[in-house]
Amino acid sequence: MSAGRGLWITLEGGDGTGKTTQAALLEEWLRGQDRKVLRTREPGGSEVGVLIRDIVLHHRGDIAPRAEALLYAADRAHHVATVVRPALDRGEVVIQDRYLDSSVAYQGAGRVLDADEVRGLSLWAAEGALPDLTVLLDLDPALARRRLDSAEKPFDRLEAEREEFHRRVRESFLALAAAEPERFLVVDAAQEPDEIAAAVRARVAGLLA
Ligand code: TYD
Repeated sequence: MSAGRGLWITLEGGDGTGKTTQAALLEEWLRGQDRKVLRTREPGGSEVGVLIRDIVLHHRGDIAPRAEALLYAADRAHHVATVVRPALDRGEVVIQDRYLDSSVAYQGAGRVLDADEVRGLSLWAAEGALPDLTVLLDLDPALARRRLDSAEKPFDRLEAEREEFHRRVRESFLALAAAEPERFLVVDAAQEPDEIAAAVRARVAGLLA
C-alpha cells in the first residue's frame, strides 16, 4: 500500500552500485518537467535519522544484529512519519535512497536474521507503507567494490563487510525483486549511467501518465 497522492520511488542495491547518481539524474529529469521532488535517504533522512545514521555506520565495534535492525527500523519509522508521508500527501514525487528492502537484504541475508521478521519489523515501523516503484541496481559485488575502492572514501561499517556478506545481500535483493515484479524494476548497473537513467525514466513516465 502506498501513501498519499504523490509518487514514491525507492532505489536499492549494494554499496557502489550508483544509486546516488541515478537519484540525481531522475530528480533533474522530473524537475525539468516542473514536478515537485523530494530527495531523501535512509538511514539519515530526518534530524533524528542523522543521529541514528552516525551510530549504525560509524560506531566503532560490533552492534548486535537485532539492535542494528531496530536502529534502521527506528530511523525508518520517524522518516516515513515526518518526511515521506507529508511529502506524498502534498502530491510530491519522493526519490528515496534505500528503504525496507535494504533491511531485509542487509540485516536479513547479511546478518542472517529471519527475513520475514525483519520485513515485518519495518512494515510495523512504517505502518505498512510500500513504494510505488523500487529500482534495484544490480551489480556483481566484486565490481562494486572496485568502484568503491577508486572513490577513495573510508568504508563504513557495512561497506567494510567481506565479499561473502555482499554476495548474500545481492541474492536477497534479486529474490525480493522476483517476488514482487510489479513493484520492482531491476536494472543491470554495469551499464552506462545514461542507459540506466533512460530505463528508469521510461518506467517512471508510465507511472506518472
Ligand atoms: P548508504 O546511505 O547507501 O551508504 P553511502 O552513503 O555510503 O552510499 O547506506 C548506508 C549503509 O547502510 C549501506 O551499507 C547499507 C546499510 N543499510 C542497512 O544495512 N539496512 C538498512 O535498512 C538500510 C536503509 C541501509
